[in-house]
Amino acid sequence: MDIKSAEQKVSDLHNLLNQYSYEYHVLDKPSVPDAEYDRLLNELIDIENEFPELKTPDSPTQRVGGSILEAFQKVEHRTPMLSLGNAFNEDDLRDFDRKISQAAGEDYSYVCELKIDGLAVSLRYEDGLFSQGATRGDGTIGEDITANLKTIKSIPLRIPEPLTMEVRGEAFMPKKSFEALNSAKEEREEEPFANPRNAAAGSLRQLDPRIAASRNLDIFLYSIADTGGTGVISHSEGLDLLDRLGFKTNKERKRCKDIEEVIQYVEGWVERRPDLPYDIDGIVIKVDSLELQEELGTTAKSPRWAVAYKFPAEEVVTLLKDIELSVGRTGVVTPTAILEPVRVAGTTVQRASLHNEDLIREKDIKIGDYVVVKKAGDIIPEVVNVLEDRRTGDEQDFRMPEDCPECGSELVRLEEEVALRCINPKCPAQIREGLIHFVSRNAMNIDGLGEKVISQLFKEGLIVDVADIYRLEKEQLLQLERMGEKSVDNLLKAIEASKSNSLERLLFGLGIRHVGAKAAKTLSQEFGNIDHLRDASKEALTAINEIGDKMADAVVAYFEKEEVAELIEELKSAGVNTEYKGPRPVKAEDIDSYFAGKTIVLTGKLEKLGRNEAKQKIEELGGKVTGSVSKKTDLLIAGEDAGSKLAKAEELEIEVWDEEKLLGELNR
Ligand code: IVH
Repeated sequence: MDIKSAEQKVSDLHNLLNQYSYEYHVLDKPSVPDAEYDRLLNELIDIENEFPELKTPDSPTQRVGGSILEAFQKVEHRTPMLSLGNAFNEDDLRDFDRKISQAAGEDYSYVCELKIDGLAVSLRYEDGLFSQGATRGDGTIGEDITANLKTIKSIPLRIPEPLTMEVRGEAFMPKKSFEALNSAKEEREEEPFANPRNAAAGSLRQLDPRIAASRNLDIFLYSIADTGGTGVISHSEGLDLLDRLGFKTNKERKRCKDIEEVIQYVEGWVERRPDLPYDIDGIVIKVDSLELQEELGTTAKSPRWAVAYKFPAEEVVTLLKDIELSVGRTGVVTPTAILEPVRVAGTTVQRASLHNEDLIREKDIKIGDYVVVKKAGDIIPEVVNVLEDRRTGDEQDFRMPEDCPECGSELVRLEEEVALRCINPKCPAQIREGLIHFVSRNAMNIDGLGEKVISQLFKEGLIVDVADIYRLEKEQLLQLERMGEKSVDNLLKAIEASKSNSLERLLFGLGIRHVGAKAAKTLSQEFGNIDHLRDASKEALTAINEIGDKMADAVVAYFEKEEVAELIEELKSAGVNTEYKGPRPVKAEDIDSYFAGKTIVLTGKLEKLGRNEAKQKIEELGGKVTGSVSKKTDLLIAGEDAGSKLAKAEELEIEVWDEEKLLGELNR
């Protein structure tokens, strides 16, 4: 074949393959058998191998990139990806409508859409070519997951017009794919995904695009990030444009002329929801007119022109067979309901925490009861109530034991707590749970060292405290159940890598009472290394904004223990990082500025700076900007049209500056 005819052939194959793929994946109406598609794709691969210069980024052969990424790059969204306010019932929907009608009068309509339960993504097209796909992240900055998104066959790699635009939608895993994936995982004795949403998110967060490609993900697009230049004047027209450009949109959407129609639509879907081939967790209601959307605007987090109606959680009935006790890392003894396995909200549930004895009394739960179960936040199984009329009289009352089920020492109820605790510091259950916490995801995040392996190592006496993890040897690990050469090597690598984890991970992992992940970060930033923290007095600790009495006491008490001092030395000599590596906070008193340590209020319109920028600059110079004027206010900056705050400041005889004076001081 000469290059000319190869070029022509490649172009024909692109068109045919794209058309077949569109019919199959977007329209759900395949027009040729799979084998024909595969034959044409192989033909294209052969030509591309012979003429590599004809391989383009939008070629149907380029959906699964070859290379494995090191990490995802950060992407700043050009327009923020907002979230939605919630409505839980009809009243909430009518409240929402009232606010819209106050701004819009009579003349407006809505579009209702299914709220797909997956993860929000943004797709960027440049001159018609799919150039970048990103996760929502915190709404401002997401991660570049282009390679993974390219594997979703309903995403066009090129759109029929050379447009530069950004479209947004929800990537998800259909129920069928989810079930197949989880059965395969269970067969390999791997932890199954909790629900299709987690499975979709997990798949798109893989650095190897071949994994995402194997997961049968799909997408529905639901908006154009920036409609300027498209000529579109309503949300529904935007969706129609997406259809014309070959994107997959959800066809269950409906334009509703008023809130009554919206409520009917919502009620209809409460019933039909289980029949859909994908999960939805609600209905999104959007004002149709883009002009009105613009007028209504957004709050910091969500648009005022849209709301998400959230379905009530699915509830099922099952038998409560038994109540088991477990001892957590802080010694709290928790009763757990053992249930006859039952499907609820997409997964099989067989355990539900009952939290404490008071809750069991309150709900009058007995062993042998039929109970209603749901998943709180659609994730955590919970016993809602007991079906008393199904009792036979054979049900048994449950009592919490007096002694620890693991070590036998007496349980105590601490002041103001409902929980019962084992306070024996040598209780093996607490030690084991502490070790599990140390290696967990938000702490030292040691892959391959899960609950089962830790429990085995602990039972065999191979680890007693967290420093022992760093002394584990290959031969010891090889003796564990189901640990082959490869998994042991990987595990040792993961342990080695964890040595350079941040100080905040280590501090959180140590499991100091009341010190969560956020406090661990603050302590790391403030003290810089573990020795300074160890030497910190209660006063030094409580001087930090976010650290209260309780946490300060717990930190001091923890570091006073001799065995803790030894543990830290052992961790250090094993090479575990104990230094803070990020930026240190600047203390107000270290800054030489007029604003340092002062409380400042901004009011009125700041012409040159804008309120946000002024706030940021003042804070950089050590000032604290608050929202309302009080006796504690040191200074009021009053822009144009300042109102009640200015009056109040004058009344309290607080110093007042105008914008000019502020600029002068900032530029000093
Ligand atoms: S519109 C500014 N439409 O729900 C409004 N969102 O909390 C942007 N979602 O992050 C969202 N289906 O992940 C919209 N038809 C739909 C949706 C939808 C699912 C998700 C999306 C968003 C979250 C809102």
